[in-house]
Amino acid sequence: MNSRDRLADLSGATVTVTGGFGLVGSRIVHQLRAVGAKPLAVGRLDAYGSSVYSSVFEISPRDPDVIAGDITDAALMDDLVSRSDYVIHAAALADVAECTRNPAAALKANINGTQTVLDAAARHTGTLKRLVFVSSASVYGTGAGSEDAAARFRETDPLTPGSIYANTKLWGEHQTALALGGTGGSYAIVRYFSVYGEPQVVKENSHSWVVAWFAMRAALGLPLHLNGGGWQVRDFVHVDDIAEATLLAAVTESADRSTLNVGTGRATSIRQVADLVRGHYPDARVMATPRPQGDPLGACADTTRMRQVLGWTPQVDIEDGVSRYVEWLKRTPEAIPAWLRAEARAVA
Ligand SMILES: NC(=O)c1ccc[n+]([C@@H]2O[C@H](COP(=O)([O-])OP(=O)(O)OC[C@H]3O[C@@H](n4cnc5c(N)ncnc54)[C@H](O)[C@@H]3O)[C@@H](O)[C@H]2O)c1
Repeated sequence: MNSRDRLADLSGATVTVTGGFGLVGSRIVHQLRAVGAKPLAVGRLDAYGSSVYSSVFEISPRDPDVIAGDITDAALMDDLVSRSDYVIHAAALADVAECTRNPAAALKANINGTQTVLDAAARHTGTLKRLVFVSSASVYGTGAGSEDAAARFRETDPLTPGSIYANTKLWGEHQTALALGGTGGSYAIVRYFSVYGEPQVVKENSHSWVVAWFAMRAALGLPLHLNGGGWQVRDFVHVDDIAEATLLAAVTESADRSTLNVGTGRATSIRQVADLVRGHYPDARVMATPRPQGDPLGACADTTRMRQVLGWTPQVDIEDGVSRYVEWLKRTPEAIPAWLRAEARAVA
């Protein structure tokens, strides 16, 4: 059975998606709506400017399946989980740099919030078919920073997180196993590599999400920053593929209690991303800047387990993905945040 057919199993199912207003969560909600499932999107509306949610991510608190709320609200989470067949826990303070600047906020969202979601899930293991915890390749640590195809993170590798953000993700993995493994609940853990693709929008003072950064800066005539020379590598996975893999992790029987990388298995350096973006904006300049604290050198995913368990591979490669992003940005220039436009005006 192909992956689309397996996702059809979700038709009629109720699925709580925490962080359902974010980039990944909103794509998951759209895919759930498309297969006839009933998403319950819960989240805060403070990760981006308010116009991003309805006009760029096309998800609105006025939608009947959308609930503006905080995952640390135990009564809310209990109510949503009690009505759900599946939970996708994607809410987090997802900006590595912001977690480093503001550890208390990282702990509140990524630790207290995750515990609240897990407490609710553990209370409803009789009706809940599975919880998927969204983790990150950052749990592996710094990596090799080489375009050498042999530099791969395997799920069995030692984990040496190098940032507060990564620490919270690793704690979430262990706590999911503890809370649900001990109560007979079903769970899966997905370790996303670098998510990109339309409609991603950059966050102020962040260094994550380089495809969106480079495309938006090039569109405004600003130089592209090569932090640490841009020799770091990432395994770029399109957000549509990420959403599909996450839902497959929910419905694939053999994914129960497994931890899966979600990546393409291909390493791309930041310099290569700059070149791909400059293919669309030939006048764009690059500028070397220091490598931020906690910014991993990186490696790509070993995808063996993902392919075996999910019977799935990503569809979008980085060349197509960058082209799709640039075309979307040209059609949707309002996605460029006002603070970035102000920076472009200031240097003009
Ligand atoms: N984008 C990536 O490259 C990447 C890579 C690996 C893992 N991840 C993980 O994927 C998930 C989604 O990330 P994203 O890129 O969509 O980020 P995002 O910031 O777009 O989405 C996260 C959402 O969680 C919400 N949130 C944060 N704290 C909350 C709280 N206390 N209560 C309710 N909602 C809360 C935010 O408002 C935001 O809408 C996160 O768990 C992130 O750590 C992302």
